[in-house]
Amino acid sequence: ENVVHPTGQSNEQQPTPLTRRSKMQKELNAASLIDSTTIPRGVKIVKKAALSIVMGMYVVHPIIMLWLFRSPELFSLLGVFQIYHKCSGTLTRRWNACLKHAAMNIFLFFPSLGGIWLWFQSRLSLRRKLLITFSCLLGFKISVDHVFLFRVPSTTNLAGKVAMITGANRGIGFATSVALAELGAHCIVTCRSLSKCQHVVEQIKSKGGTATAAVLDLNSLNSVMLLSKYLSTEFPTINYFFGNAGTTPQYDLTAEGFENAFGSQYLAHMALGEFIVEFDQVVRAC
Ligand SMILES: NC(=O)c1ccc[n+]([C@@H]2O[C@H](COP(=O)([O-])OP(=O)(O)OC[C@H]3O[C@@H](n4cnc5c(N)ncnc54)[C@H](OP(=O)(O)O)[C@@H]3O)[C@@H](O)[C@H]2O)c1
Repeated sequence: ENVVHPTGQSNEQQPTPLTRRSKMQKELNAASLIDSTTIPRGVKIVKKAALSIVMGMYVVHPIIMLWLFRSPELFSLLGVFQIYHKCSGTLTRRWNACLKHAAMNIFLFFPSLGGIWLWFQSRLSLRRKLLITFSCLLGFKISVDHVFLFRVPSTTNLAGKVAMITGANRGIGFATSVALAELGAHCIVTCRSLSKCQHVVEQIKSKGGTATAAVLDLNSLNSVMLLSKYLSTEFPTINYFFGNAGTTPQYDLTAEGFENAFGSQYLAHMALGEFIVEFDQVVRAC
């Protein structure tokens, strides 16, 4: 029944208060470039979902990335460091890793482009525009950090220094060996197989660096002893030790009967450190 109010308006004409949902709906419609009445319902739903996702990513994404960049262990856990180092260290051999790295960058920049597009096209409130602008700047800063933060300054000069890297034939160990050699250090590259080591030495030499190949199997303390004896005579001082070699646990035992990961990644590295006369810096790979 139509009841007439003192204001003269009937029940039907009473304006209903805007719910949160309908407010969002209104904002999304306002953000739409095309008049919402002319596009089919399915397209509208997809468009709204896409806009919401881009908006969400654009605000949340930089915060997550900042958190990850401030916790390198987490970052490393995600394999991002690995991809990055493999890419910069083995550019010619690891196209696959480089493609992944490029994809990572697209993932970093895509939300930024989406956010900028929204910023220009939408009729959002000032508060939201400011939030997006802030996120944009933060995202840009983090992206720049991604490129520069973890790089060794090229002015560093390690001429006359000796660095020893375990597990130098691939991955982080290989990239580190090449990077240290490029900075002037003489690298002792250790690998399980001599032929793999020699390949690394050749790569370093082709870039103008110097390196020595040495065999080291961390599954055997005897191998550690042999290497230590060799090093104590040939390289009495080692300035940098990068204990990098290791894999995910293999669920088997070392030659001495220790659990593989503990025996090779911890015990053997510690033994190596004990045997070698002098280190300036000892680094354990993340
Ligand atoms: N990449 C990551 O995201 C990540 C995350 C957490 C920890 N880490 C650690 O960082 C280190 C390097 O990572 P990565 O990704 O560069 O690994 P990777 O590509 O798998 O390379 C591992 C290296 O360690 C050597 N190695 C493995 N077991 C060995 C043993 N018993 N004796 C001697 N050498 C051995 C391998 O030699 P072979 O070629 O002969 O097998 C290889 O050169 C590892 O210790 C890994 O556990 C990496």
